[in-house]
Amino acid sequence: MKKSQTELKRLAAEKAVEFVPENEYIGIGTGSTVNLFIEALGKSSKQIKGAVATSRESAALMAQYGIPEIHPNEVSSLAVYVDGADEINPLLQMIKGGGGAHLGEKIVARLAQQFICIADETKYVKRLGKFPVAMEVIPMARSMVSRELVKLGGQPELRIGFKSLNGNEIVDVTGLDLSQPIAMEDKLNAILGMVENGIFARDPADLLILAKQDGVELIT
Ligand code: 5RP
Repeated sequence: MKKSQTELKRLAAEKAVEFVPENEYIGIGTGSTVNLFIEALGKSSKQIKGAVATSRESAALMAQYGIPEIHPNEVSSLAVYVDGADEINPLLQMIKGGGGAHLGEKIVARLAQQFICIADETKYVKRLGKFPVAMEVIPMARSMVSRELVKLGGQPELRIGFKSLNGNEIVDVTGLDLSQPIAMEDKLNAILGMVENGIFARDPADLLILAKQDGVELIT
């Protein structure tokens, strides 16, 4: 029988627990796949020193499962960072930020020695760019940044009623040419008023745990 997307997410999340080293600090991302990872980690016998959470939602779920939280400023390095993606390509470059938490996710990813992406097969794409790219912007610069995004070929749309963890706004952009993801990531981040964009090309995953109908594939 065909597995649902949630069942596939769960398979990837459960597999990721095997890659969590004991007695280390780790990083934990945000989203529905990560929620399943937190649940699987919490129910496992794995003992970790603590985890940095990238959102209030992840922190709350970690607390529910007794996973100790630490602040990113308390660690200089994390053994692994486990997170989902909105899209991921064969180079393991990603679009993230569907949950609007990509700024913290990029910071925590950079602290980690290994980035493990957990995803169901719908997220694996040849070329990035169908999923809108989330931009965290300083509120007073939102219109100015949006005009620059239009000049780059994008169609920006403000995420109504949403504020990031840092009190900034999120503008979702479709239509950008992501054939050169690193170049576009850099170009977007050079816009004044942009805090961070959701292209993870400079910080790709090291390992993708991809759950497919015919099994879980590990891609490096
Ligand atoms: C949040 C993210 C998530 O990893 C991404 O949106 C995937 O979410 P889900 O696991 O719910 O499909 O980048 O900012």
